[in-house]
Amino acid sequence: MEAKTKKEKPIDVKQWSRAATVLAVVVMIAPLVVVLLGGRNFGAPGVWIQTAVTGLRKDHWYAGSSDLPLHETTPRHNDDRLLGGLLVDGFDEESCHSRYQSAMYRRNPGRRPSPYLVSKLRRHEALQRRCGPGTAAYTTAIDQLRSGNNKSATSLECRYIVSLPYQGLGNRILAAASAFLYALLTERVLLIDPSHGMNALFCEPFLGATWMLPSGFPLQGYASFTNDTAETYGNMLRNKVIGAATQQMPAFAYVYLHSEASADDKSFFWDEDHGLLRRIQWLVMRTDNYIVPGLFLAGAFRVELDKMFPEPDAIFHHISRYLFHPNNHVWGLVTRYYDAYLADAAELVGIQVRVFGAQPNSPELLEQITKCTQNHGRLLPELLAAGTEPGTPESRRRKAKKAVLVTSLKSWYHEKLKGMYWEHAASNGERVGVHQPSHEEYQRFGVVSHDAKAWAEMYLLSLSDALVTTSQSTFGYVAQGLGGLRPWVMYRPDYDVTTVPDPPCGRAVSMEPCFFAAPNYNLWEKQWFDASTVVPHAQSCADFPWGGLMLVGRHE
Ligand SMILES: *[C@@H]1O[C@H](CO)[C@@H](O)[C@H](O)[C@H]1NC(C)=O
Ligand SMILES: *[C@@H]1O[C@H](CO)[C@@H](O)[C@H](O)[C@H]1NC(C)=O
Repeated sequence: MEAKTKKEKPIDVKQWSRAATVLAVVVMIAPLVVVLLGGRNFGAPGVWIQTAVTGLRKDHWYAGSSDLPLHETTPRHNDDRLLGGLLVDGFDEESCHSRYQSAMYRRNPGRRPSPYLVSKLRRHEALQRRCGPGTAAYTTAIDQLRSGNNKSATSLECRYIVSLPYQGLGNRILAAASAFLYALLTERVLLIDPSHGMNALFCEPFLGATWMLPSGFPLQGYASFTNDTAETYGNMLRNKVIGAATQQMPAFAYVYLHSEASADDKSFFWDEDHGLLRRIQWLVMRTDNYIVPGLFLAGAFRVELDKMFPEPDAIFHHISRYLFHPNNHVWGLVTRYYDAYLADAAELVGIQVRVFGAQPNSPELLEQITKCTQNHGRLLPELLAAGTEPGTPESRRRKAKKAVLVTSLKSWYHEKLKGMYWEHAASNGERVGVHQPSHEEYQRFGVVSHDAKAWAEMYLLSLSDALVTTSQSTFGYVAQGLGGLRPWVMYRPDYDVTTVPDPPCGRAVSMEPCFFAAPNYNLWEKQWFDASTVVPHAQSCADFPWGGLMLVGRHE
């Protein structure tokens, strides 16, 4: 192994064993739900509640009405703290407030997981407990890796995948979600490398086990492997170190799935590859992408994926809600902001403005935002001429209050929008407040305080009723997936920043993230192909048509 050795900083793994203290929870049920439920049993939150709430909101939303009945001005929340069985009871609630509180902050209850997915998750948690760090099986597996003992892993009960974080927080979340789904499909223990702050943002997702890779991982320089490292799966395949006839499989392989990965590297997605990879005990995967749509290329996986996810457009939605719980520090950022500025708004609109540090403030982008939200998406009211103020003080106060949450590295767009709704009355009389939690000016990779704010803002956006995002933004993808929201996407041809696209935005066909670098060559059959025509329920991405692949609903 030639990659240069990088000393990993030791991590705290004291959270391995956690007391399964079950605290009584006071479930707050929003007044509307009470009204809708009448005498129904609160203990059985079900589809009925969700449908009723969603239906009501939708009617109101699309009617463009702003005169709300009084009870409507109290935001609705959802009391299904375990998200339809996605989450399991029994965690210590003090160690992670967000896990069981998040449902109370979500206006959109989201999709329900299939019973098969739920049972699969429970089996996976048991696997993590049986084989994860702290167990005899883990110690044995680490010893085998250290000694290079490469007996075939088909006889091994415990196999592992280590996910390496890379790039911005959005990319890291998509990569970890991808590694988890692969782990679920292949019955591997998932371990996340704690570098780049991945140990400082989330709670543990698996009851009674850790998902953090402990210090002392014996592969030297594993965190900095490249596509040139001899032990990548692609290189070992090309150099015939492994193949269909291989007797002795190596103890580990690197899986390199960056955007610019070669056809050899991307020979990972086929049944032939999975047959080989299954015999390798340790995989170390690095990607900056949401590779999940590619997992449908293998026939064996497709069957399993169809059973787990009868709604293929909700895969990241379920995985992200299962895996990524803000830790108590981040949850404090989320809830303090929400409670102070957003909680009493009848409607919350999230606008994610992706700009890069060096870009000047763009009046064209501002115009695109206002055209999209006011005219096209009809998410925000249009403005009256200055000096016009309809109604009496009493009637004005009865108008709906709308909160707009802007996230951006810059404050300029927020200031401008806020100024508009201060200097002009809204045509429908709505009271519009515009808020932005932070503006860091420049993206800073792997800085923990920056990541904590970025994570809090993604989460806040996900609590919206409606979402506007910038195309190709992994930050937006995470928010829409967590929220179960199909966003309005502002397409922006980056070769031309002086015109406002027409239309200014389009409604995404799915809430799924785009896989920017879908495979297009099958090494086993030596054939080029177009993944969007091969993978069922997938299309090329509207915001990345050059080889992007996105899962959509069955009826799209
Ligand atoms: C690794 O990537 C670099 C840059 O994209 C490329 O020049 C090189 O050929 C790649 N190496 C292999 C073994 O694919
Ligand atoms: C695997 O085993 C073979 C034969 O025992 C040995 O020659 C080879 O070096 C081993 N490979 C690794 C990666 O340890």
